[in-house]
Amino acid sequence: MEQQTEKKKIVFSAIQPSGTITLGNYLGAIKNWTVMQEEYNCIYALADLHTITVRQTPATFRKNILDAYASILACGIDAEKSVFFIQSHVTTHAQLAWLLNCYTQFGELSRMTQFKDKSAKHADNVNAGLFTYPTLMAADILLYQADMVPVGADQKQHLEITRNIAERFNGIYGNVFKVPEAYIPKNGARVMSLQDPTKKMSKSDENVNACVTLMDSPETIMKKFKRAVTDSEAIVRYADGKEGINNLMGIYSAVTGLSFEQIEKDFDGKGYGDFKTTVGEAVVEALRPIRERYEKYIADKAYLQECYTKADEIAQKFSQRTLDKAMKKVGYVLK
Ligand code: TYM
Repeated sequence: MEQQTEKKKIVFSAIQPSGTITLGNYLGAIKNWTVMQEEYNCIYALADLHTITVRQTPATFRKNILDAYASILACGIDAEKSVFFIQSHVTTHAQLAWLLNCYTQFGELSRMTQFKDKSAKHADNVNAGLFTYPTLMAADILLYQADMVPVGADQKQHLEITRNIAERFNGIYGNVFKVPEAYIPKNGARVMSLQDPTKKMSKSDENVNACVTLMDSPETIMKKFKRAVTDSEAIVRYADGKEGINNLMGIYSAVTGLSFEQIEKDFDGKGYGDFKTTVGEAVVEALRPIRERYEKYIADKAYLQECYTKADEIAQKFSQRTLDKAMKKVGYVLK
């Protein structure tokens, strides 16, 4: 991998192990991770340090970490092609995050919409970690000198602050960090709730019918799509005010590769019932092999451990170089 680093672009991204992975996570991010690993040097992390910004039950959290690791492999991340590590196993992330905290302003962190949303949602636990979450995320990315960061649209603001922090640090100390670009897919970047299509699909949604997860059975997926909220026009077309149908078209297009034009043509004269069934079936078929592979991976804990141990070591070594460089520039005496 290190030899190839010279030539190929570096891709970094991460996902939190905060529950079952959703169709939104898959279409907005992970699907692109699998495509990018064929072309670039890809480094992916399970961002488990970020997850405790919201209180976790220890036993469930432990289970979620391994479940998420197995699920990502099942989505097609190949441990031979990509470096897929566990963030808490690599010491440099928390270290660089501390440094970056001292180069990030209170005002800019206060403007983060995710902080505002999450502090409203967890009003009894507005902890300092939730506030400084973006500096840890910036550390994740900057440690690997990433060129590109494939994420869903909800992470765009965090990418912008990452770029600002990198530019500020570079402005003081010279060229320490690569300034990364967000890679946001045209389709699937913002999969919406099936029950309220003005809201993002999220695993923490109280309405179970709002969110499809990778581990839902085919029957459950079909049921959720059949109940999806639409409108009364009964014409499958993409337009303002038709958020429910727009969302279903976006999902269908992301899963099948069909253009909106083609979808509108195919469903000309057909009702929403037919369309919802077709979208549901396409999602069932896209997720079926993932669920099957997940069963295989989660049953083989030794293999999972082998994969993350190897990846953790590579990530530690790679990121240590950047951390050392940054610390030296600041004036620290390295060990
Ligand atoms: P997380 O764990 O919430 O989500 C993982 C990825 O899934 C995308 N995503 C969506 N995409 C489309 N539609 C949706 N409804 C949807 N919901 C989630 C997210 O945009 C993300 O790409 N802070 C990050 C994890 C992280 C990270 C990083 C990402 C930590 N360090 C460094 C990139 C680089 C997060 O909580 O993602």
